[in-house]
Amino acid sequence: SKLTEGSVTWKTPSNIALVKYWGKQDPQTPKNTSISFTLDACFTLTTLDYKLKNRQSGETGFNFEIYFEGEKKDDFKPKINKFFERIAQYVPFLNEYDFVIKSRNSFPHSSGIASSASGMSALALCIVSIEKQLNPEMKDEYFNKKASFLARLGSGSACRSIEGELIVWGNHSIIEGSSNLFGVKFPYKIHKNFKNYHDTILLVDEGEKKVSSTVGHKLMHNHPFAKQRFSQANDNISKITETLQNGDLKQFIAIVESEALSLHAMMMTSNPYFILMKPNTLKIINKIWEFRAKTNSNICFTLDAGANVHILFPENEKESVNNFIINELIQFCQENHYICDRIGFGAKQL
Ligand code: PMV
Repeated sequence: SKLTEGSVTWKTPSNIALVKYWGKQDPQTPKNTSISFTLDACFTLTTLDYKLKNRQSGETGFNFEIYFEGEKKDDFKPKINKFFERIAQYVPFLNEYDFVIKSRNSFPHSSGIASSASGMSALALCIVSIEKQLNPEMKDEYFNKKASFLARLGSGSACRSIEGELIVWGNHSIIEGSSNLFGVKFPYKIHKNFKNYHDTILLVDEGEKKVSSTVGHKLMHNHPFAKQRFSQANDNISKITETLQNGDLKQFIAIVESEALSLHAMMMTSNPYFILMKPNTLKIINKIWEFRAKTNSNICFTLDAGANVHILFPENEKESVNNFIINELIQFCQENHYICDRIGFGAKQL
């Protein structure tokens, strides 16, 4: 029986890496293992309408329309077409349907928050949902793996946006079941100190990213410190795996902040080189360090490939840290913009 038409909707979170993915090889596999917190408030909502093509039309390519926040977006087409080309061999029904993709983000467009992780994972989940309807015997475990596998081919970090709360991507000897091809749930018990962990995102620079991650990953080819960086990241996976189980927040801070600065150090020492932090990024980092010295708080920061600062802190410090953020850090944000997020539990079908 052939599925003729229908519609699926997924709500898929963004994620923030604790140990960073920076450097890849074909076909979109990472040079080192990474681990991320799945987020909650930052998400993409995507509806995929599908309708079996009229066979007589003789068309062979992919046929789809894209609407983003209610507006038709033809400029998104090449990226999605490339994604479809990459995944077609794993979802051969893709060119048998006409699609309409309707997508919106919970966070402001061009806020400097990467939307590729939540966006690509949402589309991947919609596609696997269609596969599941064509093949109802598909097991739940396979479903998530397949979605992560496809999302990875859209954007590497997107493979970490299917499940929660902590996801590992990339082969690593101490992470059972880990793979370069899809993300897996952190396989050990997470210490209660990390329950409901907060991530407040300070929007220092809401402009478009100066260096796309495609360009960024390429900068790790022939990078003078590449080998050391990949082995540092893999060592940090071992360390943070212990930390996440024993709840040692001081050790957590040391790993996470070092990872953020190492990511930026790679960009500063590549050819060509970039500084993606802004003066306000550094002001915020220094304020965080002062606050920690004064109060023994467990607040820490991490960074993506941009100027915005993610502030991580445990649930039991939320009042004091929120006061600190509002009184002392918001002034360094563009138009006082920030987003309160926390560790989340993964994508949901609506
Ligand atoms: O998924 P990509 O190709 O956009 O790469 C993301 C890279 C970082 O966000 C900088 C780090 C990470 O692990 O998410």
